[in-house]
This record gives sequence, structure tokens and C-alpha cells, in this order.
Amino acid sequence: MRIIVENTYEMLSLKIAKDIVVTVKNKPNSLICIAGGHTPQKVCEYLINSEKTGKVDFSQCFFVSLDEWVGLDINTVGSCVETLYTSFFNHISTPSKQIRFFNGKAKDLSLEIKEMKEFISSHKTIDLILLGIGMNGHVGFNEPNIDPEQDFIVVPLDPITKEVSAKYFDKTVDVKEGISLGMKIILESKNIMLMANGIHKADIMKESIEGTISNKIPASLLRKNTNLSVYLDILASSKLSKE
Ligand code: GLP
Repeated sequence: MRIIVENTYEMLSLKIAKDIVVTVKNKPNSLICIAGGHTPQKVCEYLINSEKTGKVDFSQCFFVSLDEWVGLDINTVGSCVETLYTSFFNHISTPSKQIRFFNGKAKDLSLEIKEMKEFISSHKTIDLILLGIGMNGHVGFNEPNIDPEQDFIVVPLDPITKEVSAKYFDKTVDVKEGISLGMKIILESKNIMLMANGIHKADIMKESIEGTISNKIPASLLRKNTNLSVYLDILASSKLSKE
């Protein structure tokens, strides 16, 4: 595990964007997964700028979604897919046929999973995954006590996830379940980046990095992959032991 600490959210986001650019330069047709949520938003801004200024070319990349709220699709402002199209995919050169997202509104979620499985399998594995972390330690919708052996999941949301969900939506949205890449697929990724910023994430980052590896804190399971890089701003790192 590598831990990278930067002073500000902006510096942290810039560092991650640069590391993603290196991956794409080394493998232009990389399969990349970027979490929805607020944390990676600035990284997306920097990545768009990198392509605009000729530092990277995303036209051969492939992207998959990490997770989605069941019942929501791109027409709901604040869904994972809407957030990422608005803040990223609408501004880069990747053709839409190279982007595969879960449709949370699909009648048959098992078919969504089957298609996602085929899409990822056709690339063997995810080259790079940029994850955020929930206040309860979830990654994607791998909620506390998740079965780490599952490759894809549809799960009831943890009460903390439901409570926090209000910050994404401009109206009341009653979310009950999530569809997500499971821990198994996430752990098979070649390069895992876990990103957190802000003092509100300091306790959960300490538990995830220094606590017992356990499915009670799903993010702690990421330590099983030696290619884990943890990116923190100074606030999110503030509870870590000082050695
Ligand atoms: C959300 C999503 C995750 C996200 C995490 C952190 O509920 N399921 O994909 O990474 O929680 O969100 P944020 O970055 O907004 O703090």
C-alpha cells in the first residue's frame, strides 16, 4: 500500500489526475472505473483540462461504472451516471460505445450485471479504479458486512448511506438499494486508487488503513491488493499514526 498525502483537495486531485494520465499514456485503451459521488469531481476537471491541452488522449479508453442507485438512471440529477456524464464524459473524446454504466432503472438487474460482466471480461480486468469512501467505509455499494467474494452485487443500502444520499439530489429521492461492482472485481483491478478529502473522512480513513482488515469496514479489504494507493488531503489523513 502506498499512502500519498497532499495539503489541499486541489493538489490531491491534480496528483491523481497526473497518475491517471500516466496510466492512459502507458496503455491508451485502458479500462477505467471512476466512482460517482463528490470526491473525484476535481480530478475529472483536471483530466478534462489535460486532454484539452494535449497532455492525454481518452479516445481509445473504455470506462465502466462503479455503482448506481437502484431506481435511478441518467435522467435523475445526482445519479452516479448523470454525475459522471455531466462532470466528465460529456467533455472528453471517448466515444459513448466505449462507456458502460449500470442502468439502475432496468427491469432486469441480473441482465445489467450479465452485460457488465461481459464488458469487463472482454478487457480481462479493470486497469485502474478510482474509488471514494462512504462515511461507513463503503466502496461502491459494498456496504458494511458485505460478502467480499461477490463480483457484482444488488444490495439494500445501509442506513448511513441512505442518510448521506440526500446531498446528491435536488429533490427528495427515496433510495433503498444499490447495484455495484462487488469487492471481488474491485480487488482484481490492476491499480486501485482510494481517494478521500476533508476532516469528516479522517476517522473512517484511520479505521480503513490502520484497523483490522474486515468486511465490517469494506474499504479495509482493499489492503489485500498490494497495488493499492491511498490518496488523502491533509485533513483526511489527520488521524493516522504519525510514523
Ligand atoms: C457514495 C457512492 C460511492 C462514493 C461514496 C463516497 O454513496 N456509492 O461511489 O464513492 O459514496 O461519496 P462522496 O465522494 O460523495 O463522499
